[in-house]
Amino acid sequence: MRHRTMPRHKILPEISEKDFNLFRNLVKKEVGIYIRQGGRKMLGLKLSRRLQHIGFSSYSDYYRYLLEPEQKKELRHLINIVTIDQTSFFRGKQQLEILSKRILPEIVLRKIEKKHIRIWSSGCSTGQEPYSLIMLVYEMDNVDTSWDIKILATDVNTYSLKIAYLGEYRADQVTEIPPAYLAKYFRRESMGGEEIFWIKESLKERLIFRRLNLLMPGNRLKGLIDLIFCRNVMIYFDSATKKKIIDQFYRLLEPKGYLCLGLSESLLGIDDRFELIGRAIYRKKE
Ligand SMILES: C[S@@+](CC[C@H](N)C(=O)[O-])C[C@H]1O[C@@H](n2cnc3c(N)ncnc32)[C@H](O)[C@@H]1O
Repeated sequence: MRHRTMPRHKILPEISEKDFNLFRNLVKKEVGIYIRQGGRKMLGLKLSRRLQHIGFSSYSDYYRYLLEPEQKKELRHLINIVTIDQTSFFRGKQQLEILSKRILPEIVLRKIEKKHIRIWSSGCSTGQEPYSLIMLVYEMDNVDTSWDIKILATDVNTYSLKIAYLGEYRADQVTEIPPAYLAKYFRRESMGGEEIFWIKESLKERLIFRRLNLLMPGNRLKGLIDLIFCRNVMIYFDSATKKKIIDQFYRLLEPKGYLCLGLSESLLGIDDRFELIGRAIYRKKE
């Protein structure tokens, strides 16, 4: 690796305003996330760890290195460290309650002949969201293992996706899972004195994990989607970016398909082709 000009673990100086602006523009361009001024110290800290790990001594040298066309892999590392992966099983309980009482039964009824359901968790982080969804679908009346159910689970963060794919969680990460589901859908193992919970293969095989940047849409499920989850992903995106992403969702959804946002998010002023059902759940109007 080039630029190995300083010993590891030496504290780098605080990131300058100029360098901060370079990196925040790059992050905005690559993944849509706008880092506020207050995030300067945190970004500097995250970057300085990465810089030292790969042997750079200055933020601007690292920035120039990232711009080289052959450094796509390092750019992914940058994205991995700036994205926020906070998530949990059954996050947004009131919303999920509406989903399992009203929305999923309606989708199941619509699909009772075809036995075919497509869901997309866009911004799935470390997997808790798509795994919660597949548990809810499996709990639906009239749904059995003969149904063709697929959940596309995508994120831009490759590190989070690896964890999601593994489907392995610590005891403190599964506290929000109803005990009956935990017993039914997880395998429990004791490893080095710690209890580990593994999602069962029969559920995992319904999930398709892919790296997908919502700003640069790539491969998706063939055919239209019944339900899209995009929760707590676009909170740092500007309106123009949100509009573009919601427009893609609109085109990918079945007529009267559903879109779930995070509980603090809304489509107000973004897109009026959806009607609000409640708790940030939207239905495509036609
Ligand atoms: C706070 S987590 C939310 C996870 C989950 N949806 C939830 O609500 O619990 C936000 C996720 O969005 C992902 N993300 C951010 N920008 C993205 C983009 N441009 N394309 C795809 N995923 C993105 C991050 O990597 C992160 O995993």
